[in-house]
Amino acid sequence: MMRLIIAKDYADVSRKAANIIAAQIHLKPDCVLGLATGSSPVGTYKELIAKYESGELDFSQVKTVNLDEYVGLTKDHNQSYAYFMRTNLFDHVNIDQANCNIPDGTNPDAAAECARYDAVIEAFSGTDLQLLGLVPNGHIGFNEPCDKFVNGTNHVKLADSTIDANQRFFERREDVPTHAYTMGIGSIMKAKRVLLVCNGKNKAQAVKDCFFGPIKPQAPGSILQLHPDFILVADEDALSLVKDML
Ligand code: GLP
Repeated sequence: MMRLIIAKDYADVSRKAANIIAAQIHLKPDCVLGLATGSSPVGTYKELIAKYESGELDFSQVKTVNLDEYVGLTKDHNQSYAYFMRTNLFDHVNIDQANCNIPDGTNPDAAAECARYDAVIEAFSGTDLQLLGLVPNGHIGFNEPCDKFVNGTNHVKLADSTIDANQRFFERREDVPTHAYTMGIGSIMKAKRVLLVCNGKNKAQAVKDCFFGPIKPQAPGSILQLHPDFILVADEDALSLVKDML
C-alpha cells in the first residue's frame, strides 16, 4: 500500500523523511538501512546529521546497504557513491563504517560482485527501511526501464538519458561511467518499509507514470505500488501532474 506524505518544498521533504528514518532508528537501534545517493536524499542526510549532533540519534549499531555504485570508480573517486556516502553522511555521524556496505565498483568480475552483494543483503535478511530517490526516467537504484523486473544485484548498462543526467558531475561526457552495479528490484521490494523522497517539477512525470499509472518494468519505480509499506514523500511540484487524482 502506498502512503503519500505531501510536503511543501524540498526542505519539508527532507525534514519529514528524516523523521521517519529517525523513528526507525529509535525503534530498532541496530536496524539495517538501505541508502541512496543523488541530490534527493542530501537534505534528508543533513537533517539526520543535525539530529545526531543534537544528541537525538545514535548510529553506533546501525548497519547500511547502499543501492548502487558505478563500475570503474574507486572508493576515493569524488563521483563514486562510496565517496558520496562518506561525505554526505557517514563521516558526520557515529556509524561504524565497517557496517556500511556498497557494491565494489572496482571489481571487474560482475558475476562475482553481484553474488557477493546479494549474499550481504541476504545475511541481513533484507533491509528494515530502504530510502530511494526517483529520476525522470523512473529508474530506482540503477534499475533502468527495460522489459522485465530484475530480482537480484545486477550489472547494468546505463541508459543514455542517465548518462546525460549525470554528465554535469564529470568534466567530459566520456568520463561518465557507462555501467553500474545495482541492487535488484527483488531486493528493494524485500525491504520491510520503502521510503521514496522526491521534489521538483522535473520529477512530476515520473511520479505520475510510476505511482499513478500501470505497473510495468518500463517504469521501474511502479513496482513499489505493490509494496505493503511504501511511503512516498513528495513536494507539491513533484505532484503537480496528479493533483486531480489526490
Ligand atoms: C542515480 C542513482 C539513483 C538516484 C539518482 C538520484 O541515478 N542511481 O538511485 O535516485 O541518482 O537522482 P537525483 O539527483 O535526482 O536525486
